[in-house]
Amino acid sequence: MNLAVQPKLIIHGGAGSSLKSKGGVEVVRLALYTIVEEVYSLLLSGASAKEAAVRGCQMLEDDPCFNSGTGSVLQSDGQIRMSASLMDGTSQIFSGVINVSRVKNPIDMAQFLQTSPDRVLSDFGAAELARELQIPSYNCLTELRLQEWIQERQGNFNKVMAEVVAEQGLLETNARRGTIGVVALDTNGRLAAGTSTGGKGFERIGRVSDSAMPAGNYATQDAAVSCTGIGEDIIDECLAPRIVVRVTDGMSLKDAMERTFAEASKHNRDLGAIALDAHGAIAWGKTSDVILAAYHDGEKIGDTLEIPVGTAIGCFKS
Ligand code: GLY
Repeated sequence: MNLAVQPKLIIHGGAGSSLKSKGGVEVVRLALYTIVEEVYSLLLSGASAKEAAVRGCQMLEDDPCFNSGTGSVLQSDGQIRMSASLMDGTSQIFSGVINVSRVKNPIDMAQFLQTSPDRVLSDFGAAELARELQIPSYNCLTELRLQEWIQERQGNFNKVMAEVVAEQGLLETNARRGTIGVVALDTNGRLAAGTSTGGKGFERIGRVSDSAMPAGNYATQDAAVSCTGIGEDIIDECLAPRIVVRVTDGMSLKDAMERTFAEASKHNRDLGAIALDAHGAIAWGKTSDVILAAYHDGEKIGDTLEIPVGTAIGCFKS
């Protein structure tokens, strides 16, 4: 196929502690690859980067394995409140919803808000919008997440956050940071990023996630980034714009990732990010044990599931 620009795609299903076993790796790999295949086909058929980001986020939200949409973690009061955002790199427009409940796909609301004069809505306003759009009420709760919350309640909330992958036994320890994200480059060279989360789990009511802030999801015509990890760490690093602005100012994506993750590591942050630039470079970075990312470079699918524990980045162009 003779494409103006070869599309690129990278997605993530969170960052956190090591995947427990080969079985755990394979479950997550299959889930991520299925989504990469469908969304990359969309890009090849001419879908915009923004459409691809939305579709990828919907699929990740619908997979109860990941902490967003169905399978979201519960907050300290036992309620699910989700946050999502979408940024179109070409128009440089950011939109999002914060702490929205009872909707299947928070990313759909972020997509609607792309063309609204009020582009980031929080809890009550987001609920009003869902009602106006006649979005059917949907219960994102899964039995595993409920059991996790009940167990934690018995321990009087001694965990700092919930599991990133909602399949018991897939991950090793109890400190996990769940988010999903998609970054796409389309055949017209346009970039977009989408990010969605159920939050940290067990957090105070009203806590605001990075996932619906530019800190966690940012794109220009030069580069696009979706973040995962502890929201407070991502906000403190202003992670996504830090990488994107470095690229806009002339740094290569590889250098921007290396510098940004060296700084984050020095500050003892617990986070990860996926990124693309307008020239088709694909990148991921982490200070956490693992980042659950998969990508399509135009020729093949790859992933980051078995990268050794510790700060690392990858950046390549096919
Ligand atoms: N990065 C997801 C959160 O902390 O809410």
